[in-house]
Amino acid sequence: MNLKIAVLQGDGIGPEISAQGVDVMTAVCEKFGHKVAYEYAICGADAIDKVGDPFPEKTYEICKHSDAVLFSAVGDPKFDNNPTAKVRPEQGLLTMRKKLGLYANIRPIQTFKCLIHKSPLRSELVENADFICIRELTGGMYFGKKYQDNDKAYDTNEYSRMEIERILKVGFEYAMRRRKHLTVVDKANVLATSRLWRQIAQEMAPQYPEVKTDYMYVDNASMRMITEPAFFDVMVTENTFGDILTDEGSCISGSMGLLPSASEGESTPVFEPVHGSWPQAKGLNIANPLAQILSVAMLFEYFNLNEEGKLIRKAVYASLDANVRTPEIQVEGGERFGTKEVGAWIVNYIKKA
Ligand code: IPM
Ligand code: MG
Repeated sequence: MNLKIAVLQGDGIGPEISAQGVDVMTAVCEKFGHKVAYEYAICGADAIDKVGDPFPEKTYEICKHSDAVLFSAVGDPKFDNNPTAKVRPEQGLLTMRKKLGLYANIRPIQTFKCLIHKSPLRSELVENADFICIRELTGGMYFGKKYQDNDKAYDTNEYSRMEIERILKVGFEYAMRRRKHLTVVDKANVLATSRLWRQIAQEMAPQYPEVKTDYMYVDNASMRMITEPAFFDVMVTENTFGDILTDEGSCISGSMGLLPSASEGESTPVFEPVHGSWPQAKGLNIANPLAQILSVAMLFEYFNLNEEGKLIRKAVYASLDANVRTPEIQVEGGERFGTKEVGAWIVNYIKKA
């Protein structure tokens, strides 16, 4: 297969983890005989500094004409502490989602056996946790009509039938490929948008008779995720709820540095780690590249290149088993490995496999 990949490194640790993702991708392509071409584009604070726009038109064009985007992270503290800043790196992310029509954000919450002790939850609770959160990504309060003056402000939460149907379809289809259990997370006891979600989900459920569909209020779901995470298989929810629940979910695994994600929709799909740009670690060679590397696995799997994805996952597990780990998950007294060393070890494993 010929693959044209847009690489958006962004800010903070972005460029460092991106380099490891690209090396792994190249190694896998060599092994399986795929041709891959990379085109780099700027985004986030880096792009604001360079051209005054966190998602410049040129970057959009490059993404649009690629088969997939390998994205790293955006964000810089100099914007967080400036409430009057007119442009922010995060706007780049939102613009990218909107312009590429990335309405489905797939965030798997997975645990790694050797890291279960790092989870803030008791081992017996997290042992069998393995679920996917499907978050609607281009609608709801994030993009609804907004207003702000000195005395009043509002954000509008709006969803159309079309937007709800297409994301629920993604949810049902993921459930079909997994353990056939879909949980629709909403706040239908209070919100009109949620009632429409629930109504449409109930209309669609008979088309998927093998899927056990249940409905859960978001407050209850947030509790269930920590009291019984193994309950969930596929969870589907709106933009804002999904933002909050996936941060909660990312803690379950014990290290945020391990979780990849995919955003899919109308145009080029984007693959990125769930974690942010961790500016304090920039240039220190300590950031965990595994979430980025696992994002590459999700990229291959998106194109049904499942053996390729499987090999990456195998290499990642092997690196953990061999204690080739970045500092935040290193075993006591173990040898120290940096971002580059973990990446190089995985590349080497892939080459020899
Ligand atoms: C995420 C992030 C973004 C969001 C921010 C950076 C705008 O928290 O991808 O979950 O809220 O969607
Ligand atoms: Mg978030």
